[in-house]
Amino acid sequence: GKGTYPFFMLKEIDEQPVVMRRLVEKYTDGHGNVVLPEALLAALKQADRLYIVAAGTSYHAGLVGKPLFETLAGVPTEVDLASEFGYHIPLLSKHPFFIFLSQSGETADIRQVLVKIKALGHPTLTITNVGSSTLAREADYCLELHAGPEIAVASTKAYTGQIGLEALVAQGLGIAKGNQKAAEFDAAHQLGLAAAGQQALIDQKDRLHEIATDMFKTTRNAFYIGRGTDYYASLEAALKLKEISYVQAEGFAAGELKHGTISLIEKDTPVVAYISDPVTAAHTRSNADEIAARGGKVLRIASASQATDEDQLVVNDIDPLVSPLLTIIPGQLLGYYTSVDRGYDVDKPRNLAKSVTVE
Ligand code: M6R
Repeated sequence: GKGTYPFFMLKEIDEQPVVMRRLVEKYTDGHGNVVLPEALLAALKQADRLYIVAAGTSYHAGLVGKPLFETLAGVPTEVDLASEFGYHIPLLSKHPFFIFLSQSGETADIRQVLVKIKALGHPTLTITNVGSSTLAREADYCLELHAGPEIAVASTKAYTGQIGLEALVAQGLGIAKGNQKAAEFDAAHQLGLAAAGQQALIDQKDRLHEIATDMFKTTRNAFYIGRGTDYYASLEAALKLKEISYVQAEGFAAGELKHGTISLIEKDTPVVAYISDPVTAAHTRSNADEIAARGGKVLRIASASQATDEDQLVVNDIDPLVSPLLTIIPGQLLGYYTSVDRGYDVDKPRNLAKSVTVE
């Protein structure tokens, strides 16, 4: 049950630090070494390209997987929406390996892809929160998130769980391949940092409620911007806001603003700017300034090393490869409190089902 929580979503947001630590427990040997099933590792090593296929929030977690696998394991990775991929299978590499990300393990769009890919004889891995699910059973390999049941329609702990597990698998594969970048990265340590940083943000709930009321209570639209993994977090934060508070919200690559989007900015248009990656912080900050100069209402969320006095919210420093583990927490809480402020049933948004078992 949800205990003393008004909604499962808030409970599940709160559980994320525990999920991070549990992943480390389940997938490392206690000395920071990633432990994966031998057969899975051998199959992954053969791959010349990874195809991550997913839907919704899991797709957004997949996007974060691309730089993780490319950087740590040195293997080109593409991320596809299951509902598109199934009907337009691209020209595949010689030795493709498929990773299906699905909280429920029951998403029909993914199953349709899995069936086609198996018929072609390519290896498949399902990463899921439900070990007894259809996608878990039907793929060659399965890794579980161990996040505990996720009840709220809006996915939260499965998203951060998927990213955490992608980081572990990418490092494990990179080490197995003798990749230097993987040796320099410490997934277990990063997940520990993530757990602590998430807790620090969760402890600021009341402030995030105030910010949500100020930014979103009466707005019809809202934007999230960022670059790289901050962009990926923007997409997921926007989905959280739209699906439970019915605000038309979009995530944009900050650099694309001047190519069109900025014309949407009016007086008081709410825009959340993610400024966590040191490499791109200055550019995104100047985009935020341009929006503010046009009357937009800007909320700046920066990492500790990049923060200035104008930033309303600071997240701890963490490797930018996994920064959405932190930056998404305010995105989740802003969506949650906007839904609460508007009096909606947070856990059961209109028109949506927890698992989408029709194509
Ligand atoms: O169970 P899955 O991860 O396969 O579900 C995919 C999407 O249906 C799901 O993430 C959906 O977008 C959520 N409502 C997002 O919060």
